[in-house]
Amino acid sequence: MAVTSESLISVTEKVMRCIADEEIPIVDVGDYLNGDIKAREQLAVDLRAIQESLGFFVIVNHGVSQDLIDSSFEQVARLFALPLKTKMKYQVGYHHIGYIPDRASSVRPHDVKISESHKNHKKDVNEGWAFMRDRLPDDPKVLANIRHRSTNKWPDELPDFRPILLEYQESMTQLALRMLPAYACALEMPADYFDDKFTLPEFYNRCSWYPPSVLETNYLSVGPHADHSSMTYLPLMDVPGLEVMAPSGKWMEVAPLPTCVSPGDQPKYDPVAFHDYQVSYLDGNYFYLKDSN
Ligand SMILES: [Fe+2]
Repeated sequence: MAVTSESLISVTEKVMRCIADEEIPIVDVGDYLNGDIKAREQLAVDLRAIQESLGFFVIVNHGVSQDLIDSSFEQVARLFALPLKTKMKYQVGYHHIGYIPDRASSVRPHDVKISESHKNHKKDVNEGWAFMRDRLPDDPKVLANIRHRSTNKWPDELPDFRPILLEYQESMTQLALRMLPAYACALEMPADYFDDKFTLPEFYNRCSWYPPSVLETNYLSVGPHADHSSMTYLPLMDVPGLEVMAPSGKWMEVAPLPTCVSPGDQPKYDPVAFHDYQVSYLDGNYFYLKDSN
């Protein structure tokens, strides 16, 4: 009987614990993205276990620049701070590209379990901005007027919005492509199985703004739903709010990643070089003659 190397690998303990306790796992993909084959095999096993149960996880060491994520959020905040009249110049239409005003949508859950627990009959309280793959006017799909495959709208009032958000889109696309071999292995397919299936991937970016207001009964910021693409990648924020339904029906909070600085607080300590810190740490904890060798 053939024994594959995958069959000898177990789901990591912390992932098993998260699945059992219905908490969002945090998965380090750094070694995998650096080409470590053993790390890929382990990630594949963990991914399969997660996606067949919780269906959601947080990744760290993904290689997307935090500065780029921060500047993208900053541009998006500037966009939603524009006057409504300005934003409405770019309102979405046939191709669902551009500005989506507050209470213009009502995301409908298609999962029975979600539908029963959250009857969302009112309009969602959020504004959005949608953009797709950036196309030129002579793109064949644009010329053919294929739905959702038109040229993007970009706000004239924010000249940095387009280059920064497109750089973000490209970074996330590269990350998504680099994650494909892990998913192929998780499905017990050859690692390059998806390579020729995403040569010119389509994507849908939706920037959202949730007004900081107390909602009236039954109003939701965005109705519970399942996404419809092959994969969704979301940037984590410092602001909590995102929740994911576990198989039992429990809502799991997608908490911001822990840092030494709380949102809005000043850093507790001044920045320090590692060596300076190490000297003071060791001197403070060990009693010996510091002048001796
Ligand atoms: Fe979604």
